[in-house]
Formats: sequence, structure tokens, C-alpha cells
Amino acid sequence: MCGIVGYIGHREAYPVVLKGLQRLEYRGYDSAGVAIFDGNEINLCKTKGKVADLALKVKNEISTHGTLAIGHTRWATHGIPNDINSHPHFSNSGNLVIIHNGIIENYGTLKKELIKRGYIFTSDTDTEVLVNLIEDVMKNEKVKLGKAVQIALNQVVGAYAIVVFDKNKPNELVVAKLGSPLAIGIGEDEFFVASDASPFIEFTNNAIYLEDEEMAVIRRNKEVKIRKIKDDSLVEPYIQELQLNLEQIEKGGFDHFMLKEIYEQPSVIKDTYRGRLLADQGLIKLGGLEDHIQKFVNADRIIIIGCGTSWHAGLVAEYIFEDLARIPVEVEYASEFRYRNPIITEKDVVIAISQSGETADTLAAIKLAKSKGAFVYGVCNVVGSTISRETHSGSYTHAGPEIGVASTKAFTTQITVLTLIALKLASVKGTISYRDYNIYLQELELIPEKVEKALLSNEHIKTVGEVFKNARNFLYLGRGYNFPVALEGALKLKEISYIHAEGYPAAEMKHGPIALIDEEMPVVVIAVNSNHYDKVVSNIQEIKSRKGVIIAIVSEGDTTVKEMADYVIEVPNTPESLTPLITTIPLQLLSYHIAVMLNRNVDQPRNLAKSVTVE
Ligand code: F6R
Repeated sequence: MCGIVGYIGHREAYPVVLKGLQRLEYRGYDSAGVAIFDGNEINLCKTKGKVADLALKVKNEISTHGTLAIGHTRWATHGIPNDINSHPHFSNSGNLVIIHNGIIENYGTLKKELIKRGYIFTSDTDTEVLVNLIEDVMKNEKVKLGKAVQIALNQVVGAYAIVVFDKNKPNELVVAKLGSPLAIGIGEDEFFVASDASPFIEFTNNAIYLEDEEMAVIRRNKEVKIRKIKDDSLVEPYIQELQLNLEQIEKGGFDHFMLKEIYEQPSVIKDTYRGRLLADQGLIKLGGLEDHIQKFVNADRIIIIGCGTSWHAGLVAEYIFEDLARIPVEVEYASEFRYRNPIITEKDVVIAISQSGETADTLAAIKLAKSKGAFVYGVCNVVGSTISRETHSGSYTHAGPEIGVASTKAFTTQITVLTLIALKLASVKGTISYRDYNIYLQELELIPEKVEKALLSNEHIKTVGEVFKNARNFLYLGRGYNFPVALEGALKLKEISYIHAEGYPAAEMKHGPIALIDEEMPVVVIAVNSNHYDKVVSNIQEIKSRKGVIIAIVSEGDTTVKEMADYVIEVPNTPESLTPLITTIPLQLLSYHIAVMLNRNVDQPRNLAKSVTVE
């Protein structure tokens, strides 16, 4: 994980890099550092803590003058978060300085070799090994930095996005990528490098996304020369025009990105189906799907892979694919799938779901599925991300940048795309009646309005949050389509409030979790109109008879559950298969308010990072 930024050009580099680090802090935020080259010296400053802590330290300790700088915000892998393990790292001579996102798996062996050759290490990181390996190659092979990086990386096992420069070559940045993302922004006589394009979006719309096993030498005022790390062949740079804008990556008046992103859901769900859902014509058009629809229709089964919230979206999709399109579906954690020797054939279609498009386990699972001949379809949010490029085809979710670490709008837009796919397949296969199909299209079009309405309960949800903010445990229950929503609600609460929460299928409660229920235990039950409504009512009764406290999410106009529950949050009615798009909203808000009341860092919860590029 970690975020990296670099600048070389005509401006003062530090403000650009600092701002960039703030934007990339979602990628890791346990320590941060910068190295600024003033033409003579490299001024380096790093600290445990956040980018704001770094800015304070820089102010007191170093000169920030210089037109070349690199910066790093860390999510620790090797070595605890402290000042010494923070990046950038110097080589022993003090000439080279590096920032790195990824893991050098064979760093132990390389380190032993380097120690034998007299190198001294001050940190516990794999990165310090890499920068000294590069220095060692420069010395022994008498080559320049670019060549030395290439030779060194050919000895490395693992993943990396690196930026390195040499004090003796003040007009050059060398960057390389394998497994971790790296974008190069091309300005007027200036270049930017970063883990994603957000640090340079106000300066340029032109970017090159390095591919795996590529490196680039970036020369001030001149050029970007890209080569393959393995065979040294030159690569023609492909410059993409970015669609991102500044407004999308700023908070826009909300206290937190998470709240902003919760409130964006009506508009981003619309963006997700815009041009794809043509209800008046009874059509669904998904560019990525059109040419491959027969693969889905003829598939023996669909395997859905993802992690965390994306896995929950996959579980919702399992219900809707099987229910409407009658195709067998299996949903797997990517991390389990990739290591358990799964049976995959050419007759399987794999759908990989990932907001970031960079999750290491999902990526590895995709590669495995492809190697067995399966057709792999991506559902990603980040345009141009590694997963979107690694899959055979796919559909973007168009949620816009999700900065809050806890996923919100990514989840509902993933479900929107997956629902469109399921409906399209159902209509092609003839497993849905013409009438029902059209009703679904019309109902889907109404979802943004209904999400808007669900958001109106915000203040009420806040008061419910106030009552339960000191609870130590929560239980979330749902059935059918809303079982994955219960899982997602529990995950949201855990990750941002640090309160223990578990999601369960409501009927499973009596097979164990019911033992936990007492007057101290808030139980959030999703009890909206559905085929299971009566069963959920029975589950609520079971909880009430054990003195459990019920917070129920009910459909507008509900009377039965209202009489039984301690607190009720109403949401608009919609067909059962679409309810997850609505029932998720109050659960996101409940977690948000509890976390705020507990003074948690909502956008950057402890120990987490937005983009999990380590396994
Ligand atoms: C939870 C959350 C994570 C991610 C998971 C997968 O709020 O954000 O559980 O869903 O790390 O990430 P992506 O979707 O980027 O592959």
C-alpha cells in the first residue's frame, strides 16, 4: 500500500508533493516523509504520524527550497511505524534516495549479501535494502542510475512502485513498477509521479500509467523514456487524457469524505446506469458485455471474487444472478480462491469486483482464473487500474474517486452494475418475463430518488447512534438479499468505530449468536418488505424475548415491526432484489455518526488503507 509522489520541473516542488501526499493519505497514513533537492543537498524529513505531522516537522527542521522532491505516506509492511522506518530512505553514500510502495520478498537474502559487502542498515525496511542494492550495482558495474535500477530490480522478488534519484544527477528521476500502481503526469516542462493521478490533477490532464515490469527515466524539461525492466526494450509512451477533476477529490463542504460519498450515492448510482439503462426502450446496454454475452449465457457457472466490501457486493449479486438469470454462482474471497487450488475451467466466467482495481489478492485470483482458461470480467471503479487492464472485459462503476477508506458509494454502484448484468442476462436467457423485466428497469431508475429519501433520515439515525455509541458489541441480521447488507453494515461499524460487530443471516442466530443477546446488545435487523418478512418478524420476537434491543430498518408504512422494535428507521419500498441499494444507506449513516461521536478518524481508520496492494 503506501502513497508515493514525486515532482521535477520549474516550480517549488515541496508544496506540490505535500498536497499530493494529503490526497494519497487514504493509501496509508502511519508515517510520512519527503526528500527535497535544493541543487546541492538533499533535505530529508520524515516522521511517524500523518502528513499533517510531517508538515509541522518540515517547517521546524528543513529548508523546503528546491524544484525536485519526492514524498511518501506509509502503511507499514516491514518494520513498525516509526521515524526511522519511514520513507524516503538514503543509500549508504547518501547520494541516492528512494520511496517505495510494495514489498521486496527476498529482502532478507539481499540484505545479508549487502551486509557482507559492508553496507550498514539503520531501518528494518525492505526499501533500504533496495536502495543500497541499486547503489551497489552502480559501484560494481560502473553504470548510471537508470541501468542500475534495472539490474537491481531483476534480482528482486516482490512488488514495487519506486521513485529514486541521485544527488549527482539533479535533472533525473527514475521510476519503476511491478504490482503497485504508478502514474506519470506530463505537464509543460514539468513531470509528476504518483500512485494515482489525484496529486497532479490541477496541473495536467495528461498521464502515462506504467505497466508492470516497466521503468522510466524522467529528464527535467525533456522526456520520459520507458523501458521493459526484463529485456531493456523501449516502450512507446501511451499518454491518456484524464477524466478526473479537482472537485471530485475535495470534500465539498462535508466534514468527512465518507459523509460526502454517502450523500453522493443518488447521483453516482445514476452515473452508473446512465446510457446503460434505457427503461423507455426496455434496453440495457453494457459496452463491455455486448461482445461476450454468450460466454455468460453458456457458462457452467459464474464465480465472483473480491475482498471486503466488494465481496459483499458479490454476495448480493449471487442472489440476483441466480434469482433472475438462473445461472449458478459461487462467491469467493479472492484471498482464499487463489490459494486453494480451485477447480476452474474454460466454461467458467469469473467476475472480479474491486473499487480500487489494485487489490493484490483479487489481481492474483484473476491471473489464476485466466491461466485456467476462464473468461474474466472486471467490475472496477478506478479507470485504468491494474484489474481493469488485467481482465478480458468489464464495466466501470463510475462512482468517482472514493477517498474515505470505508467503502460506501463503491458498494452501491457495484450492486447497480451487477444488477444491470443480471437483468441483461435474464432477458437474453428468457428467464424473466417481459413484464417483470420492464418493471425492474423502471424500479432501478427510481433508486436514486429513493436513496435520496433514505438520506432524509440522517438526523434521526444520528439520535439512534447517540443512544448506542458506547455499546461494546453489535449484531446485524438480515435474510436473503439483505444478509450481505447485514455483513456490510457490521463491517462499516467495525472499521470506523472499532466497535465489535457481527453480521449474520437472521435464521442462523438461533444456532449460536442468540447466546450473546441481553439488554446490553443492540441488534440491527433489516426487516423490510420481502418474501422473508414474516420470518424476520419471528426472529425479532426471539430477540425481544431475550431482552435484546432492536434497531429495525423497515419499509415505509410498516406497522408490525414498528410495534416490536425499540428504534425504527424507515426506508422507501422497492422490489426485494433492489432493497440492498436502499437498506445499506441507514447502516452507513449509523456507523458514520457513531464513529464521529467516538472521535474516531472516520476517513482514515487505524491500521487500514484504501488500496490493499499487499497480500
Ligand atoms: C471496506 C473496504 C474494504 C475493501 C477491500 C477491497 O470498507 O473498503 O473491505 O472493500 O479492501 O478493496 P477493492 O474493492 O478496492 O478491491
